[in-house]
Amino acid sequence: MLVLAACGGGDDETTEEATDSGDTTADTTEETTDTADTTTDEAMDEEIVLRIFGGNVGQEKELTQAVADRFMAENPGIRIEVVETPDFVEDRLGTYLQLFEAQSPEGDVFQIDVIWPGDLAEHFVDLYEYGARDVAGDHFDAIIENNTVDGKLIGIPWFTDAGLLYYRTDLLEKYGYDGPPATWDELEEMAMTIQDGERAEGNQDFWGYVWQGNAYEGLTCDALEWIASNDGGSIVEPDGTISINNPEAAAIVDQAAGWVGTISPEGVTAFGEEDARNMWQAGNAAFMRNWPYAYSLGNADDSVIAGLFDVSPLPAGDSGAGAATLGGWQLAVSKYSEHPEEAAKLALFMASYDEQKYRAIQGSLNPTIKALYEDPEVLEAAPFFGSLYDVFINAVARPSTATAPQYSDVSAAFFNSVHSVLTGEQDASTAFEVLELDLQDILDK
Ligand code: GLC
Repeated sequence: MLVLAACGGGDDETTEEATDSGDTTADTTEETTDTADTTTDEAMDEEIVLRIFGGNVGQEKELTQAVADRFMAENPGIRIEVVETPDFVEDRLGTYLQLFEAQSPEGDVFQIDVIWPGDLAEHFVDLYEYGARDVAGDHFDAIIENNTVDGKLIGIPWFTDAGLLYYRTDLLEKYGYDGPPATWDELEEMAMTIQDGERAEGNQDFWGYVWQGNAYEGLTCDALEWIASNDGGSIVEPDGTISINNPEAAAIVDQAAGWVGTISPEGVTAFGEEDARNMWQAGNAAFMRNWPYAYSLGNADDSVIAGLFDVSPLPAGDSGAGAATLGGWQLAVSKYSEHPEEAAKLALFMASYDEQKYRAIQGSLNPTIKALYEDPEVLEAAPFFGSLYDVFINAVARPSTATAPQYSDVSAAFFNSVHSVLTGEQDASTAFEVLELDLQDILDK
């Protein structure tokens, strides 16, 4: 009964379950079958089904399934289904919003982006009412603060993210470079030299630099890094000032547009994280901008670049320092869940020390629990958690708090504007003049 009540949409599982119940009704005349079905029904009555709506970028789905299996082993009577959702943040948000608008109980635990608490708070329970008070202090304060809306903890931090520069140690050495580039200008020069050299040796598919250039949230992250590293602000400042229309921001976005078709493939303007990683992991790029998850995959047994790369902070522009965008994901419990108690228990289990440790070691997903950055096994699997600790704690936030509940619209206006510069439709100062007006409209200023 519980299973059926939780079903709302057209996946295979639902169809199967619906058919099963149909069978039961049709079987009423057959005594033997009837008895058997009653037993099953009783078993099902006791079983609680929890659905986790989560991501599938890199190894995410396998890792989530593994934690679900451990929880089920400890909690007989609860069955967990891991529901895969689209990779791109705005598509995933669309899937969630459909369920929330229908107040559907179909999802219990939702993996939510660090930029969503302000926009989505109304759909989630306050985890402080379900035991989170005891563990909140173990997590990075800034993330707890980010996830707190009107005093309610609407998501328990699960993993944090920051943009990194991946570079090929073997190729840097081959072309006589001592270390990764400190500035964007150096990156351009190194990427071009290595690209020319590798192509001359016969690899026509080789590119200098791959990153996220599609018109989506990932581009907001990459472009914010360029702009912040060039003293161009953070689109909308924490006090609500719309700052994007400034010469430093425009200059660096024009510079990035110059990478398209030179050190980066033309197709980079359609790249998401996984497109960049695929090219990089096939050994066809000298540099890549990506999140930490690409580290463990790049070093996996089947990776041709295993042991041949490292990560560093992203290069600096005129500010003299590189900037990393703050990313990361939280676990939230839907208000429309029929089992908020169990769902919250699951979310807290998934975000616990042991489970974050497992994900850090298996998937190089950055913990949000401070103590894990001193755990020797974690540091052995992902040494950069220690060496780049400052990058993680100083990451630049997107203006999601300052613009909530309009952040999604603000970001879409921004990434579309940047995208039009990358594809050569207009220069950045023209694009940002218009963008400023659009943001005034969206934010009603
Ligand atoms: C990563 C980040 C997330 C960001 C997304 C953009 O998943 O953790 O915060 O929004 O990338 O593609």
